[in-house]
Amino acid sequence: MAATKPRLNVALIGYAFMGRAHSNAYQQVNRFFPDCPYEVVRKVLVGRTAGPLAEAAKTWGWEETSTDIDAVLARDDIDLVDVATSNDSHHAITMKALKAGKHVFCEKPLALNTAQAREMKAAADKAKVRVGLWHNYRRSPAASTAAQLIRDGKIGEVRQVRGVYLQDWLWDDSCPATWRMTEKVCGSGAHGDLNAHLIDMTRFLTQLEFDEVSGLRETFTKKRRNANGKGMVTVDVDDALIFLARLSNGAIASFEATRVAPGRKNYNRIEINGSKGTIVWNFERMNELEFFSFEDDGPVQGFHTIMCMNGAVHPYAGNYWPDGHIIGYEHTFTNTVADFLTALKTKAPFRPDFADGVANQEVLDASLESAKSHKWVKVEKSQKFAKEKATKTAAKKAGITG
Ligand SMILES: NC(=O)c1ccc[n+]([C@@H]2O[C@H](COP(=O)([O-])OP(=O)(O)OC[C@H]3O[C@@H](n4cnc5c(N)ncnc54)[C@H](O)[C@@H]3O)[C@@H](O)[C@H]2O)c1
Repeated sequence: MAATKPRLNVALIGYAFMGRAHSNAYQQVNRFFPDCPYEVVRKVLVGRTAGPLAEAAKTWGWEETSTDIDAVLARDDIDLVDVATSNDSHHAITMKALKAGKHVFCEKPLALNTAQAREMKAAADKAKVRVGLWHNYRRSPAASTAAQLIRDGKIGEVRQVRGVYLQDWLWDDSCPATWRMTEKVCGSGAHGDLNAHLIDMTRFLTQLEFDEVSGLRETFTKKRRNANGKGMVTVDVDDALIFLARLSNGAIASFEATRVAPGRKNYNRIEINGSKGTIVWNFERMNELEFFSFEDDGPVQGFHTIMCMNGAVHPYAGNYWPDGHIIGYEHTFTNTVADFLTALKTKAPFRPDFADGVANQEVLDASLESAKSHKWVKVEKSQKFAKEKATKTAAKKAGITG
């Protein structure tokens, strides 16, 4: 008889967009990752409104529901707390969960600001539990392959990074305000929502840190009607924020996040130019990489497209379908859970962790400060990171950990 795996009981806080994405990942991980060291149990779904909470739990297969976070955190049978709520609650829920000795998997951005993020990191270190951050895009097969190719020197020394994350859902002035438009609930607008992903992807792909930044922000629609129908809300966060950066090896970079670029739905694209090649990942074509190398023979030199769905060499691809049968957004979350649980069991590092969350927040805050002061701002770097080694082997065998 096959040995049974230890069960890992999850409490998920929040059941809307990310609550659904995470629920799906917990549901799928044991099916697509037979080596996952735990049997994941969707134990308790936590929310604030009983009716829709019960409906969500039924849809996504959660055993129980609760509207009382404290009671859930007090339970001995909860191993992992997943924070999938709006940004203003990440700090409070995480601090309580850490105090209760739970492992914590938190949505991005880690916190509302750097001070909160640093407190969360310090508390996690003290609690001696494992923590992770849901920057799921890292774990698309193509993005993980890009990281490996860059680590293996395929594009040479990184010189320029160009990241854009463009959406259009706020193009219409009549679109109502949500929590994503009020600073005390979200921290910042498109910046914390979208640039946070670009910052994480840059750090993941290049293993470089941000030294200094110069930001420019705009809020085009300054008041929006309240979604609850009660009056108007002053929008005090950016609709769009652009920033320039100098990275730790001297490379230069530009980033642009917006929610008002008509026609752009979730256009998350990053281009890395090195001393001998270029690599491009674009979420809207998330299974592919564009790759150019001056090392290719003259007549065939040019951009070519790598379909990163060869299970023998591309991370995660082999966990799903036969080669070339592409995967999507939701799989990046499943891949993230699989890696987190493996790291939990093996005690290997898991990235991004709260140190990465702090580093990310430091860049977010420096760019906001720069946009306010109209001056370049040095990024206060409180974290140190070891570089992962180049492998010179196929990406899958490299065992990219994040
Ligand atoms: N990784 C990604 O790609 C990605 C994508 C979208 C959102 N996010 C992040 O995920 C988080 C959630 O975003 P979302 O899009 O799911 O938002 P959402 O508005 O769809 O859902 C947030 C839910 O949290 C609940 N909530 C808020 N405060 C709570 C509290 N104190 N206790 C219990 N429930 C609470 C709300 O009622 C709501 O149901 C945010 O931090 C966001 O930045 C990440």
